[in-house]
Amino acid sequence: MSEVFTKSMARNVYYGGSVFFFLLFLALTFDTSQAIKKTDNRDAITEQVALGKKVWEVNNCIGCHTLLGEGAYFAPELGNVYTRFGNSTEAIIGFIKSRPVDGIPGRRSMPQFNLSDEELEAVAAFLKYTSEIKTARDWPPNIQG
Ligand code: HEC
Repeated sequence: MSEVFTKSMARNVYYGGSVFFFLLFLALTFDTSQAIKKTDNRDAITEQVALGKKVWEVNNCIGCHTLLGEGAYFAPELGNVYTRFGNSTEAIIGFIKSRPVDGIPGRRSMPQFNLSDEELEAVAAFLKYTSEIKTARDWPPNIQG
């Protein structure tokens, strides 16, 4: 190799590097899109699940709870509450309806939201949906969330 770093050498490094990283970018984009396909269960997003997500947002459930790790740490993780409650939307509905349970010292209680039956069924369907999302690392790591 010559001692001098010529303009044409610099140009080759520039073009070669650009091509290399552009190809790497394409390969990683392809890899990501394949990985997303494996986790995707968007067919499970029904009208009811969409309404449930709205109920979830309007009532700011995430202000106290986490959902698949995101949110507040005041109340239990709900990404897998459907599994924790024995794969039962009725149990989730019953729980939300029965709050608050006061008078247990040291226990935090969830407020009453006065949701309609339709909203209760929808938010339970939404929590069932979240429990079926295939997260990359099987999050939450255990049944307690
Ligand atoms: C003000 C804070 C707060 C908000 C907002 C809140 N929760 Fe809760 N939630 C709690 C607390 C505290 C508990 C656990 C204690 C209890 O038994 O009430 C809980 C428990 C639950 C549980 C049972 C979890 C378990 O593993 O036992 C479900 C299901 C639930 N909440 C759903 C919801 C939904 C749906 C919303 C929105 C409509 C919501 N929560 C909004 C505080 C909150």
